[in-house]
Amino acid sequence: MNFKDYIRVIPDFPQPGIRFKDITTLLKDGAAYRAAIDEMKRLVAHHEIELIAGPEARGFVVGAPLSYALGVGFVPIRKSGKLPGETIEADYALEYGKDKLSMHKDAIRPGQKVLIADDLLATGGTIETSINLVRQLGGQIVGAAFLIELTYLEGRRKLDGIDVVSLIQYS
Ligand code: PRP
Repeated sequence: MNFKDYIRVIPDFPQPGIRFKDITTLLKDGAAYRAAIDEMKRLVAHHEIELIAGPEARGFVVGAPLSYALGVGFVPIRKSGKLPGETIEADYALEYGKDKLSMHKDAIRPGQKVLIADDLLATGGTIETSINLVRQLGGQIVGAAFLIELTYLEGRRKLDGIDVVSLIQYS
């Protein structure tokens, strides 16, 4: 399956010059969505994974089905003020804008092997911050998996030493 055919590219969203990769066109096609998750499962099959962590919001639609497919738990990395329990927080910069990410303090058991999953690797800021949060909680990062990677933004350079896999690349 050519997964790129299912991604819609929208020019100048959310601001001029950004070519937004819209995954909703893939998600609404049941066969394509399932095939994409199955393929991502194959890409991470060499890792021992105990837990998946994914950042809000699009990281949930990739991370949660992947965790179901692997039979492991899923923990959300949320924007500030959304999680009800005790949290840790970190500031981060986005391709367009900045925000704060948070996790529950008891989300991860020390030493647990964690895969980070998200829909898109752009500048890498979101995932770098997500990795820092997971590590602060004692988690061991085994890799990072993305539906899409914008290779020209070189986000994986921020993830030195981490096994990064992506299903679709734009260069
Ligand atoms: C998008 C995307 C990634 C991140 C990638 O999320 O889903 O999480 O940006 O960018 P980066 O590699 O430059 O950090 P966004 O913050 O737009 O939130 P959303 O998923 O809630 O739309």
